[in-house]
Amino acid sequence: MGGVNPYQSEVNSVLPALPYTVTFLPMGEKVEVVPADLPSSREGLAGSILDIAVGAGIDLDHACGGVCACSTCHVIFREGLESCPEASEDEEDMLDTAPGLEISSRLGCQVVPDGTRDVVVVIPEWNRNLAREGGSESDE
Ligand code: FES
Repeated sequence: MGGVNPYQSEVNSVLPALPYTVTFLPMGEKVEVVPADLPSSREGLAGSILDIAVGAGIDLDHACGGVCACSTCHVIFREGLESCPEASEDEEDMLDTAPGLEISSRLGCQVVPDGTRDVVVVIPEWNRNLAREGGSESDE
């Protein structure tokens, strides 16, 4: 489910010109991002961490479909944040509702690395639990 939030201000992101990698922790899955293959999934902004994760088959929750209207795609950058544009006001407002917020937290659907650095992000544990419980029948 992809889409556009008509109430969201414009995001100034630059798609990468050269290949780079995104490593998702704690699983340690490393994804090679090839600019010509973007978008990978049509979830979130083209080239966003969410787009790359979904395209690679990595579970990153995105309850609103990647339109900056929830905070379930929260990721924490460990490396490469300097290759991303600053968060928009809309992204910061949504991030404020995310549990476990850190200084390098971003919304996966809104943050688009420019490819000048390899990136390492952590998917917070509460998000991983949510993804796992979503497919479990023992929750009922
Ligand atoms: S998926 Fe909802 S804000 Fe990113």
